[in-house]
Amino acid sequence: MTKKSDATKVVVEGKQYHIKCAKGDLPRYVLMPGDPKRVEKIGKLWDKSKVVAEYRQYYSRRGKYKGTDISCLSSGIGCPGLAVALEEAIRVGVDTFIRVGTCGSISKDVGLGDIVISSGGVRLDGTSRDYAMIEYPAVSDYEVTLALILAAQELKVRYHVGITATTDSFYCGQGRPGYKGYMPTKNKTLMHDLQIAKVLNFEMETSCLFTMANIYGMRAGSCCVVIVDRVKDKFELSDEFEKRAALVASEAVRILSLWDKKKKKQGLKHLSLDILSSIK
Ligand code: URA
Repeated sequence: MTKKSDATKVVVEGKQYHIKCAKGDLPRYVLMPGDPKRVEKIGKLWDKSKVVAEYRQYYSRRGKYKGTDISCLSSGIGCPGLAVALEEAIRVGVDTFIRVGTCGSISKDVGLGDIVISSGGVRLDGTSRDYAMIEYPAVSDYEVTLALILAAQELKVRYHVGITATTDSFYCGQGRPGYKGYMPTKNKTLMHDLQIAKVLNFEMETSCLFTMANIYGMRAGSCCVVIVDRVKDKFELSDEFEKRAALVASEAVRILSLWDKKKKKQGLKHLSLDILSSIK
C-alpha cells in the first residue's frame, strides 16, 4: 500500500505519522511513560479508558480520571523518541505534558520507591541540543510542578523536588560501567560531580521534554519513581512503585484541570491566591 504526505508535515490520512493520532484524539493533558506497556497499566487506574492508537513505541489511551479528561502516550526510551511524540502530540491539541517514569537516585537522601518531581533538568541529552543552545534552561512549568507536589502530599508518598540529570545512555552516560567495565575517564567522576551539585536523580527524557515544552509555550512536569539506589547499589522494580508515580501524575492532572477551569472563568493567565485557596 502506498501512503503519501507533504514531506515536512508527515501527516497521513489526517493522522500524525508516528503517534497515529488526529486532532482531538488526545485530551490536552497527557501522561508520558517511556514503556508502551505502562500505558495500559495507567489506564486501569482511571475511571475508564480506551486505546487510541498503537504504532512502534507509541501507544496511546484516553479516558477519565475522577471525572477529568486525561490521556497517556508512551515515548519509548530516550529523548529522540520523546521529541517525536511531543512534536506530534502538540499538533493534535495536547498542551500539558507530565513525564511519568522510573529513575535512579544520585542523592543519598533519595531512596527506593521515592518520587522525584523535577524542577529542572541537566541537559546531558543530545536531542535538546537540536532545539536550543546548551545555555537554554530545561525548567519545568511551575503549575504542573506545584500540582505534582500537591498530588504527592494528597497521596501521602515520600517525594523530593529538585534537579534531574537526563542522559542518552543508561550505562556509561549514567556512570555505570559498560561491557567488560568500559568507562571513559570523563564519566568516572560524573556521580560525584552531580552529587555535590545537589542533583537528585538520573533518567532519560525529562530535560528534552522541558526544553521543548518551553520553546513551544507548552506546560511540562516530570515525576519518576526511584527503582535504582545508586548510593546503596540496590535495584527494585514493583507494580506498586509504578502505580505510585502514575497516581501522582493522574492526580496532578485532576488538580491542573480544576485550576485551568477557574483561571479561564476569571480570565487569568496565572494562578491566584484566590484560586489556590478555593480548591481541595
Ligand atoms: N532509569 C534510568 O535512566 N536510570 C536508572 O538508574 C533507572 C531508571
